[in-house]
Amino acid sequence: MLRVLLCPPNYFDVVDQKNPYMSRESPVDRVKARTQWETLCSVLQQNGCDVEAIDPVDGLEDMVFAANQVFAGEKSGYGKFVVPSRMVYPSRQREVPFYADWCRAHDYRVIELDFGTDYLEGHGDLLWHPDGSRIYGGYGFRSTRGGIEKFSAAMSEMGISVVPLHLVDPYCYHLDTCLCPLNNDAALIFPGAYSAEALASVHKFWKRVHLLTADEAHRFMGNGIVVNGSYITPHLTSQLETILHEEGLTPVIVETSEFEKAGGSCFCMKTFLQ
Ligand code: ARG
Repeated sequence: MLRVLLCPPNYFDVVDQKNPYMSRESPVDRVKARTQWETLCSVLQQNGCDVEAIDPVDGLEDMVFAANQVFAGEKSGYGKFVVPSRMVYPSRQREVPFYADWCRAHDYRVIELDFGTDYLEGHGDLLWHPDGSRIYGGYGFRSTRGGIEKFSAAMSEMGISVVPLHLVDPYCYHLDTCLCPLNNDAALIFPGAYSAEALASVHKFWKRVHLLTADEAHRFMGNGIVVNGSYITPHLTSQLETILHEEGLTPVIVETSEFEKAGGSCFCMKTFLQ
């Protein structure tokens, strides 16, 4: 069974502007947020996932975005491991030890990196190729190039390579908003989010690259969760439906309007545990 870690939205709120989606003018509807979060959990369960929840912490309003605090992986000969992040925003830095402790208590090897002045934001910017052969690392807004390099050095000790990808669209400030691996051969991307060099790199590593429009990407349609033949997405266009059909995936819509106000959607709200 696939295990997935989420954090209930008890203290979720928009209190500052960490990304261009966030604004004090669109307050969060707490009741709606709870319903949307619970729906996401049940859809994951219906798709064969074992949902684990970490305790939310008062004052950590973005802790619900469970994709960012650690990067989780497994490598034969090394076992299950996590790399705790160094988040850019101080309020988010405080989330990290709670996740690292949770993982330690659940038998993960915790690989602490010495980031110096660099940043690394977990699965927000680090995505596995589905076969585990490499990791894509986005940088430019949150994770820094140096953070990706330090992470890459640690992964190379396990024989895993990391492909750095320079991000240039502030609305796609995390890689998980503009790259979504669909299977070993196909990925969904928003090309406008990448530097020319990064875009060339993406094309090199995927046989089929499906393009999202800016509107689709900025409405988090590239922030879906691929699980059990489903694509869990907050919105759907006929274009996206056609792509998913070509790749043998069935769209499942889960509304995340409240979390989008904080600049996140389905993918941002969970970490797959290995
Ligand atoms: N408000 C959060 C932030 O700006 C949203 C994080 C979204 N997470 C993600 N994996 N893209 O840090």
